[in-house]
Amino acid sequence: MNAPHSDALVIFGATGDLVAKKIFPALYAMERRGRLQMPVIGVARSDWTIEKFRSRARQSVEKIEGFDEAVFAKLQERLHYISGDYGASATHAALRKELGDAAHPLHYLAIPPSVFPKVIEGLGQSGCARGARVIVEKPFGRDLSSAQALSATLHTVFDEASVFRIDHYLGKESVQNILVFRFANTFLEPFWNRSYVESVQITMAEKFGVEGRGGFYEESGAIRDVIQNHLIQVVGFLAMEPPQMNSNQAIRDEQAKLFRMIRPLRTDDVVRGQYRGYREEDGVARDSKVETFAAARLRIDSPRWSGVPFFIRSGKCLPATMTEVLVMLKPPALSELCPGQANYVRFRLSPDVTIAIGARVKRPGEELIGDATELKVVNRPSGDEMGAYERLLGDAMIGDGTLFAGQHGVEAAWAVVQPVLGHATPLHEYKPGTWGPSEAEELTTGICECRSPVWLLPHAKDGESS
Ligand code: BG6
Repeated sequence: MNAPHSDALVIFGATGDLVAKKIFPALYAMERRGRLQMPVIGVARSDWTIEKFRSRARQSVEKIEGFDEAVFAKLQERLHYISGDYGASATHAALRKELGDAAHPLHYLAIPPSVFPKVIEGLGQSGCARGARVIVEKPFGRDLSSAQALSATLHTVFDEASVFRIDHYLGKESVQNILVFRFANTFLEPFWNRSYVESVQITMAEKFGVEGRGGFYEESGAIRDVIQNHLIQVVGFLAMEPPQMNSNQAIRDEQAKLFRMIRPLRTDDVVRGQYRGYREEDGVARDSKVETFAAARLRIDSPRWSGVPFFIRSGKCLPATMTEVLVMLKPPALSELCPGQANYVRFRLSPDVTIAIGARVKRPGEELIGDATELKVVNRPSGDEMGAYERLLGDAMIGDGTLFAGQHGVEAAWAVVQPVLGHATPLHEYKPGTWGPSEAEELTTGICECRSPVWLLPHAKDGESS
């Protein structure tokens, strides 16, 4: 690929939570590997000094195992800070000056969507957008029309090839492994379809609540926060047709094609829940109707998947922190040899990384009966691989959009959830530490001619984190 390497990183919203939690650790990791060769300019409204900005960077990374002062010293030398209003021409003029000779800056918008237009306009008018790329953090809008408006705003200054919509799930090794495991193994393809797959279940569970992000969450809720993006992206990797690997648009194009084949959700396809105690969290309305749990039944109208339900659920304050996919196969011909069991493929995406195939072998002894076992293809704790933000920042710096969400895919994903946004469906309270409201179980019964699958509890033995 001949795209120019970015020669400066500009972070709008540099004093925010995301930068402290994800971006500084990613930059530190890049520095450690010798992959960060450019100045990093933070821009924010807070009246901070460069010393304060550097000390914030240190706080974010000093607890990393094996923290190395020499690496941090190099990183801190790269840091610059501009304080100013995002819309003020003085801020953008100061940025232009700070950029100096940089001809291909990468602008990271870690700011609320309401300020995007001002920043884009400022970048355009000041000349900071020339030769530049832009990374946009989710949420990409609040619904279909605002997502379209956001793209239109971006396109006033940046062409689509220079826009990088970051969904960190696409940067996770375990999520990319779905793609590799599917398309690099011939044995999977014959059964990866409606003839053999009975249902697909995806669970993204978090043991913790909104953790001080009540204000943000009130604007979002589980459907906007993780279903429209992270979980639908995972559905895409599980269900899409093989991409032609000759362009960095290929994956996002196949994803968008698949998303367009997902039927828009009906209100009876969704169950929303809210954990008891959410309304007492800081920043949350006492009568809030925002969901902290959502379960949905997706249907994909494609020749491969017609009739196969995809169940997805996610929630806060559940019994474990883990994300797992189970692709359940139909029962075998002699199902009496293994009552109540069927083969499955299991992808544990986090906290540990597992790919396993559920199979049966004869129980030793007189009985002619099968016992459940798993063939583990991968089974390791996560941690040694490259973090999602490091991976994606590095990709954006070389202009590789393979693992970024594209405009068409984002819009198609909004079209799926659009009918159930807001208060379109009832809200059920659930007790913290449970698997959400019992109503969610009803979603998995009575589906076409399938057996009635129930939500399978994730495989706790692989490790849970709190
Ligand atoms: C974020 C959501 O995008 O993803 C959070 O806003 C959620 O609510 C987080 O906790 C989960 O990401 P990860 O990588 O920890 O699974």
